[in-house]
Amino acid sequence: MRPDAGAILLRAMHADDVEWVMKLAADLRETPRWPTSVWQQIVNGQGVQRIARVAEFDGRRAGFAVAGVVADGAELESIAVVELWHGRGIGRRLMEVVLAACFEAGACRITLEVRRSNLAAQALYRAMGFCFAGTRTAYYNDPVEDALLMERGLP
Ligand SMILES: CC(C)(COP(=O)(O)OP(=O)(O)OC[C@H]1O[C@@H](n2cnc3c(N)ncnc32)[C@H](O)[C@@H]1OP(=O)(O)O)[C@@H](O)C(=O)NCCC(=O)NCCS
Repeated sequence: MRPDAGAILLRAMHADDVEWVMKLAADLRETPRWPTSVWQQIVNGQGVQRIARVAEFDGRRAGFAVAGVVADGAELESIAVVELWHGRGIGRRLMEVVLAACFEAGACRITLEVRRSNLAAQALYRAMGFCFAGTRTAYYNDPVEDALLMERGLP
């Protein structure tokens, strides 16, 4: 069952989300596993400009997304939704708010990399208007796999 889009709360990622975000990322082989120091930089606004959002459903954290913005280019770096809540429109809502925030931050293009085997994420990105833009051979480890590069213009 898809929840009413209005029931999904999107908000900025805070310091007290870091432990939860790291646990969700650790549980999924598709998401990068950054150390605590990187997540602390993100929520404290240090280093590269980052857009970091958390989705809540029914008062519980349900997913997160992070993008980096450098000059007029953005990169979607990580997105994940709790498995229990897959297929309910939460990934789409996270993408919508992150794309809008990247545009507001000055980006006119956004790129991302995705494992060749990750068909769910590729379907989400295509549904959000991303197009195939190239392949990075053996880009990922554990297991070794090609990355597909995808991109779209903003807004
Ligand atoms: C990819 C991911 C974030 C999608 O989140 P989600 O909340 O399940 O996605 P949504 O319900 O918002 O789906 C939006 C669209 O994506 C597509 N989609 C999502 N999951 C899909 C699946 N398993 N099969 C086919 N299409 C899918 C559909 O086109 C869907 O369109 P619809 O809204 O018309 O149904 C989620 O599967 C996930 O967390 N995966 C593990 C982490 C991951 O792979 N991150 C990406 C790394 S590059």
